[in-house]
Amino acid sequence: MIWLYAIFSRSQMPNRYSMWGHMQTLKVELGERSYPIHIGEGLLDRLELLAPHIVGRQVAIVSNATVAPLYLERLTRTLAGYSVISVVLPDGEAFKNWETLQTIFDGLLTARHDRRTTVIALGGGVIGDMAGFAAACYQRGVNFIQVPTTLLSQVDSSVGGKTGINHPLGKNMVGAFYQPNVVLIDTATLNTLPERELSAGLAEVIKYGLICDEPFLVWLEEHVDQLRGLDQVALTAAIERSCRAKALVVGADERETGVRATLNLGHTFGHAIETHMGYGVWLHGEAVAAGTVMALEMSSRLGWITAQERDRGIRLLQRAGLPVVPPQEMTPEHFLEHMAVDKKVLDGRMRLVLLSRMGEAVITDDYPKEVLQATLATDYRALVDQLRG
Ligand code: NAD
Ligand code: GLY
Repeated sequence: MIWLYAIFSRSQMPNRYSMWGHMQTLKVELGERSYPIHIGEGLLDRLELLAPHIVGRQVAIVSNATVAPLYLERLTRTLAGYSVISVVLPDGEAFKNWETLQTIFDGLLTARHDRRTTVIALGGGVIGDMAGFAAACYQRGVNFIQVPTTLLSQVDSSVGGKTGINHPLGKNMVGAFYQPNVVLIDTATLNTLPERELSAGLAEVIKYGLICDEPFLVWLEEHVDQLRGLDQVALTAAIERSCRAKALVVGADERETGVRATLNLGHTFGHAIETHMGYGVWLHGEAVAAGTVMALEMSSRLGWITAQERDRGIRLLQRAGLPVVPPQEMTPEHFLEHMAVDKKVLDGRMRLVLLSRMGEAVITDDYPKEVLQATLATDYRALVDQLRG
């Protein structure tokens, strides 16, 4: 059993954020592969934050058909002194596959990019995961920069070096650990993000509160409406706090041999939903939200959190605009079938991330099978309806 103890002090987050108007820089500590995360408004224009991490003259920006019209020209202008090409992929989780990956290599080879090229991911988690995997493979590894433009990618996927693509039989099943050289988070890009995508990102933000930062959970309960209203001060505070948690966990366990797995609260159930429903039908963050409800339910069935604490978590996810009921058509057998190919399965034993209390997570395969069965068979519609009563 592996535990993630609360990693933050019990002190409250400030209501107004003292760094307003300024850039915040955090660091992921990985020895000689350490890298900065810059967070602030308007950073897309800041060449001095990118230039130290570009080794040669060649740069390849990987983006998609939605993000490129919004931000590609601007980033290309910032990089005016370099020889810049762009590879624009189709948009969507359904394109996170070999075929689309190949088009990145096509673009790099056609433009004769060499081993000193720098690949920049400009987009959400799908682009970040695919561009990162391409950077890991191209000529056995080239420089890589993350410029995440969704809330989810800013608080989670751009940090920590997990890259890869989906397989029809399992989510993110083919990939590599490959750390970026810098993560540049321009919080103003969230102004163009659809509401549904913003909510999906909030699922991962809430995750940090649940697994390791109870004071942050309290802050989120107070600020969730501001976050949904795109209040830049609140967003910057939430991104900074989330990245701080992620950087600490990744610094302690880069390859997920232990504590990093706790970042996957709700993901084992959530990946089953994504795979079963077809990639892209449920957004990743939405599937994680419903999966988190299932993890809360199981933790409460085990007596590790109270029913009131479970309901507190569900209410916050609901207020963030997230689905809290798994798809009605999924049976316990469907879940078990998909969960069996989760990366947390070791030697045939299904490890799950659960809460030992609010703000503290545990990864364990030490639970009665009947409790998992009962969790999968729970009538979540009825559970959520009683919250309203
Ligand atoms: P996404 O990349 O599909 O982006 C969501 C949508 O928002 C897309 O349509 C995209 O084109 C659009 N978009 C992006 N930025 C925009 C902007 N600023 N304005 C308007 N539209 C914008 O989805 P996501 O939620 O960012 O990422 C989900 C992916 O991330 C999944 O594939 C998941 O597996 C992966 N992920 C990876 C990690 C990791 O550690 N590597 C962690 C969590 C999730
Ligand atoms: N999103 C989980 C991780 O990066 O480990």
